[in-house]
Amino acid sequence: MSQKVINIAIDGFSATGKSTLAKELAAKLGYRYIDSGAMYRGITYFAQKHGLVNGETIDLELLNHLDKISLEFHHNSKRGGSDLILNGENVEEHIRKLKVAKHVSAVAAISEIRKFLVHQQKMMAAQKGVVMDGRDIGTVVLPDAELKIFVTAREAVRTNRRFLELTSRGDKITKLEVEANLRQRDLLDTTREDSPLVMAEDAKLLDNSEMTREQQLELAMKWVAEKLS
Ligand code: DC
Repeated sequence: MSQKVINIAIDGFSATGKSTLAKELAAKLGYRYIDSGAMYRGITYFAQKHGLVNGETIDLELLNHLDKISLEFHHNSKRGGSDLILNGENVEEHIRKLKVAKHVSAVAAISEIRKFLVHQQKMMAAQKGVVMDGRDIGTVVLPDAELKIFVTAREAVRTNRRFLELTSRGDKITKLEVEANLRQRDLLDTTREDSPLVMAEDAKLLDNSEMTREQQLELAMKWVAEKLS
């Protein structure tokens, strides 16, 4: 008998390790990993590149350019996971910088942008066999996902993890800057009007502050097994 194929939605605050968990689950199950945050980051990078970010303000002229933005994921066999391709250019390195992180929550609060991306994300998951992570996946993008996980971790743990990630990629930043960015994004992401970050009623809560990667994967795989049985 062929194995049942499901969709898995992973949501949570910034830098909780959602994407690590999502990538490892996808690899283990042979599913596709989709990093929805990368898509918001891609649009933010596009806006910055085209002079559509002025100070803290996003120029809504950006909305007239959405039909010129194509976003795809290409598998990266060296690193595992996938790279974001924006209009044919691999922008993975650029979208991970703090410069993009500083404006991405403002871009993600714009309803037209959310509509544009949510439509694409739903299409990507239509055939099932997808692990998608973000902020509104269990609530808006894939409300019918068979398994929903809400990931959280203590703020100091999250700051430390993101600081190590960014400095290992060569970003010259301080821990204080990382902490301020996480706080600002969490505030904007949880208080915006359109699809704020909330835990879906039927999601499983996973606090990984005291867990290793292996432990969190093991727990998530236990939940997957329950859904597949
Ligand atoms: O997961 P991330 O840190 O790469 O996400 C970047 C930003 O994009 C995050 O601060 C909020 C926004 N986002 C969102 O609003 N909805 C999603 N599904 C994914 C990300």
